[in-house]
Amino acid sequence: MHPLSFSHQSVPVFKMRALQLLVLLLSGLVGAQQQALMDYLERRLLAIEDRISLWHEQTSRYASELREFKQQMVAQLEGLDKNKEALRSELDTVGTRVDRVEREMDYLETQNGAQPCVDVDDKLVEQQVTVVKERNKAKYAKLTDCSDMISTIKAMKILKRVGGAKGMWTKDIGSATGKVYILNGTEDNTMYEFGTVREFTSSQGTSAANSVQLPSAWRGMGHAIYNNHLYYLKQGEEMKLIKFDLQKNIAVDSTVFPAKNQLPVYGLNPETFIDLAVDEEGLWAIYATQENERHISLAKIDHKTLDIEQMWDTPCVRENAEAAFVICGTIYVVYNSKLPSRSRIQCVFDVSDMVTNDDAPHVYFPKRYGTHASLKYNPVEQLLYAWDDGYQILYKLQMKKKLDV
Ligand SMILES: *[C@@H]1O[C@H](CO)[C@@H](O)[C@H](O)[C@H]1NC(C)=O
Repeated sequence: MHPLSFSHQSVPVFKMRALQLLVLLLSGLVGAQQQALMDYLERRLLAIEDRISLWHEQTSRYASELREFKQQMVAQLEGLDKNKEALRSELDTVGTRVDRVEREMDYLETQNGAQPCVDVDDKLVEQQVTVVKERNKAKYAKLTDCSDMISTIKAMKILKRVGGAKGMWTKDIGSATGKVYILNGTEDNTMYEFGTVREFTSSQGTSAANSVQLPSAWRGMGHAIYNNHLYYLKQGEEMKLIKFDLQKNIAVDSTVFPAKNQLPVYGLNPETFIDLAVDEEGLWAIYATQENERHISLAKIDHKTLDIEQMWDTPCVRENAEAAFVICGTIYVVYNSKLPSRSRIQCVFDVSDMVTNDDAPHVYFPKRYGTHASLKYNPVEQLLYAWDDGYQILYKLQMKKKLDV
């Protein structure tokens, strides 16, 4: 039988079948599409997940690498720190070595060049010394039994800067007041008085000072203050020493220094013609004359009358000398060079013959800006009051006994 011959009664069944099939087909198609979409999305998600996990991995690797790097850096920095420390300590030792070499160079320079103290020919020195001794036959009558000599400079303290390149400052020696005096410049007639060193250091400039007017201007930096009196050389051609009473504010005495044809005492400080010094024995004058023009002379002065008690020619040359002071009857001459180097004691002369130049230690001052314009010894404190380019400096001295050398 022909399928089409099936009568109309089978038509609805067929229709239904076809519809069902269509729905099925369609739904199958939709399902397949959905599946593909799902698959696609899944793949994409997987890929994204993969990538995310890759990133994750990479970031954590970077993080750990960074951490490692940081650790390495820290370790290296620590190493550098240690190296720096080592370098610094090495530099320190090199520094002290350079210092020592410098000192030795200085010393050698003065030994080989123009020698302020040690003459080229030893015999010459011996002759000179014997001449000096003959001339000073009359033994100096010591007033005290002090027998100290310098061993070294123990400490330095820069207190202040008032005034110009040249000047002098000191404490009143031999009086209980402890007053401090500033004589600024090489020719002036106004000095400044402070109650104590502390008052001086804590005040602005010279504002807190009591200014003292002198009857005449001074000359150079060689003044001394002893027992409430100022001793100074007056401006002018004649070498006139003035004794000024600091309590009454009047000049109480004066005298013309008896040396003829005087010269500046120190080659490096030509303004000073007479340098007055105070030690345990009293007042001294350090000076130079044309008769003995290469060398420095020394005189003991009676501080009460200004009379000269005794005079000596020292073997210490004037050339390259910058200052001097007296301790227990021994003069110490301090030398430097025209281009300021390190100040050093390089010539010593003892009026009682207990210390010779050979025994004397070569004492070096700590390195400074310039050169000393003046050095004043205070026997009570065993301090040197120094003026260096306007700076007021204290040097603490270490002493030893003359006979111990
Ligand atoms: C100190 O003296 C110098 C000149 O030598 C001068 O220029 C200066 O003003 C003076 N200072 C004081 C505080 O008197």
